[in-house]
Amino acid sequence: MVETIIREFVEGRDERAWIELHNEFKSYYYGSDYEPLDERGVEWFKRTPWWRESRLFIAEKDGEPVGFILPFIDKAYDPPKGYLWEFAVKPSLEGDEADSILLGKAISWLSSAGAREIQASARDNMLKRIRLYQSAGFKMIRTFSRMRLKPEEIRENIEACVEVELRTANPTHSCEDLKILNALCNMAFQEHFDFRPETLEETKAWLEEEGYENHVLIALIRGKPVGYVVATISDKPSRDRHKRGFISSIGILKPFRRRGIGTSLILEAIRWLSEKGAKSIELDVDDANPTGAPQFYAKIGFKATFKTLTYLKRL
Ligand SMILES: CC(C)(COP(=O)(O)OP(=O)(O)OC[C@H]1O[C@@H](n2cnc3c(N)ncnc32)[C@H](O)[C@@H]1OP(=O)(O)O)[C@@H](O)C(=O)NCCC(=O)NCCS
Repeated sequence: MVETIIREFVEGRDERAWIELHNEFKSYYYGSDYEPLDERGVEWFKRTPWWRESRLFIAEKDGEPVGFILPFIDKAYDPPKGYLWEFAVKPSLEGDEADSILLGKAISWLSSAGAREIQASARDNMLKRIRLYQSAGFKMIRTFSRMRLKPEEIRENIEACVEVELRTANPTHSCEDLKILNALCNMAFQEHFDFRPETLEETKAWLEEEGYENHVLIALIRGKPVGYVVATISDKPSRDRHKRGFISSIGILKPFRRRGIGTSLILEAIRWLSEKGAKSIELDVDDANPTGAPQFYAKIGFKATFKTLTYLKRL
């Protein structure tokens, strides 16, 4: 039997293996429901603040890369918290030793970096991955739903807010807009699962992901910013030639909720995405969102499709 070797990622040599293994694993479980990773995505990630606190380990069999894992240590938590940001293996080798050795390597790296707990996720159809997490002591703590809407399916008689003004913001070029967006995100998500304030550098980094165009709208009431939405469209050729748009983030300050401001923002975001050619619009929502977001999306006409399960292992 050929032994599995685990080694560290070598910059300038392993990017292709990262891209191919990611796309093979994702397409196996998501079909056409995912955005393929390309060189631009990898180079973008290497420039983000998250890469500085990550390690990428590659599993090799007979000199061939067969899987990789990307643990990230989040030092903004005290004690630091570990995440498995990416974990892909050749589907034919799942359940073989490669995935359990990779998982063990990531757990021991995170543990030596100070993590006391590790969070990971799996789509609901990843049965072998779920079994692997369970056998390693991970417990399911949360579920998220992917919701989807075709622009022509927006429900009728949706009431937007009459007193709100929407302004297009440009946070990747304007420092002032970046600060406004960052502050709104941090205030709107305060009561959420896994919340910790995002830095300006992080907000800028996710907005600059290569291969995507964002449309950022700020909601103003009497000139004061009270909410925002970020709509995102990919410029990658879709695998099923079906262009998808995303609601990447939406938030309204607590005192301004239930006045139709979220509705005004999301309708405008959907309009922009349709204009850009999106045939369907997607988002991920925490099923136990404490602010009623699943009901908010359902009222617009979004329908739940598959689920992503969140797991936690305490060390
Ligand atoms: C979810 C959120 C964006 C909704 O914004 P909003 O401006 O309050 O939404 P609207 O006033 O336009 O609500 C439209 C409809 O959605 C539904 N809805 C909104 N909040 C709801 C809640 N807490 N419970 C049940 N239904 C709700 C209602 O049907 C509402 O219509 P109604 O007020 O006439 O009954 C807002 O609560 C928020 O910012 N939450 C924190 C951040 C967040 O969770 N973002 C989504 C992450 S996926």
